[in-house]
Order: sequence, then structure tokens, then C-alpha cells
Amino acid sequence: MKILRYLLLGLALVLIIIQFVPNELPAVEMNNPSDLLATDQVDGEVANLLKAACYDCHSNSTKYPWYSHVAPVSWLVAKDTREGREEVNFSNWSDYDMMDQLKILDDVYSEVEEEHMPLPIYITMHSEADLTPEQRQKIMAWAESTMDIIAEEE
Ligand code: HEC
Repeated sequence: MKILRYLLLGLALVLIIIQFVPNELPAVEMNNPSDLLATDQVDGEVANLLKAACYDCHSNSTKYPWYSHVAPVSWLVAKDTREGREEVNFSNWSDYDMMDQLKILDDVYSEVEEEHMPLPIYITMHSEADLTPEQRQKIMAWAESTMDIIAEEE
């Protein structure tokens, strides 16, 4: 019993101490003139789906829940947000060139179809990101038609 008490005390101390490691959550910027949502390339429902299921990791307007500030969860959230933005940042949409936009839309289609995105760990904490098959189809149809429109414009 004594050992268990020491173990719990040790664990509590570790949890307290790691809170002092500076958190590296990527900065939030709500004013994004180049954002996909500021263009006419996406409509109401798909815009809402992307906002609910993708924007925390793939835009500058991340909403961090309280627990994302608590280590060690904060380390995981910081990593996913940083890497997600590096791969695809919808806040920089208009700054991507045509080839990048086509590539992203093609990737969006397959990631959503294969249920790789949103990341499963995110869905466990965000029920609104648990997309139904119909919602996945809507995003895929949008990605496909937007690719056609972009390709035709050239
Ligand atoms: C919890 C954070 C998170 C959420 C939410 C999320 N993603 Fe991602 N996404 C990532 C990370 C991290 C990567 C890079 C690593 C990887 O590919 O797994 C990524 C990569 C991608 C890629 C590039 C894949 C490739 O290999 O080229 C696409 C496209 C993508 N995500 C689309 C989406 C879409 C669409 C949504 C919403 C339906 C979404 N993501 C939701 C974190 C997230």
C-alpha cells in the first residue's frame, strides 16, 4: 500500500512538473483574408463541415479546448496542429497556386473517402467531427467539382 501511495505521489508530481514545460501550441489568427471560407469556392453546408471537422488542425483559426493547454495532451495537440497546418492550411488557400489547390482537393477527397481524416483521436473528443457517410460524400463531391472548376479556369 505504501508503494502505491508513493507511486501516485510521484505521478502527481510528474504531472505538475511537466506543466512548466512551455507549451508550443501554434498561434491562433482569426483574421485570414486568404481563407478558403472567404472565397466563393465553398458553400454553406460543406463550409460548415470543414469548419467543424478540419479547421482546428488545417487553419489558423484553431479552437483550443481547455484540456489542450494541459500537458501531456498539449504536446499531442501542438504536434497535430503544427503538422496539419504544414500539410494543408485552408487559411492560406488563395495563396496556393493552382497545382497545389488541385493536389489538396485530390488529397481531401481520398483522405475523407478512406476515413483517414479527421484524425480518429480528434473524433473521440469532437462528436461534431464524426462525419456521417452522407457528410463525407458531400465533402468529396465538393472537392471533385471544385477541381473541375479550377481546371476549367485555366
Ligand atoms: C486533429 C487534427 C486534424 C484534423 C481534425 C484533421 N486533420 Fe488532416 N491532417 C492532420 C495531420 C497531423 C496531417 C499530416 C499527417 C498525416 O497525413 O497523417 C494531416 C494531413 C491531411 C492531408 C494531407 C494528407 C497527405 O498525405 O497528403 C489532408 C488532405 C487532410 N489532412 C485533410 C483533412 C480534412 C479534409 C479534414 C476534415 C474532414 C482533416 N484533415 C482533419 C491533422 C488533422
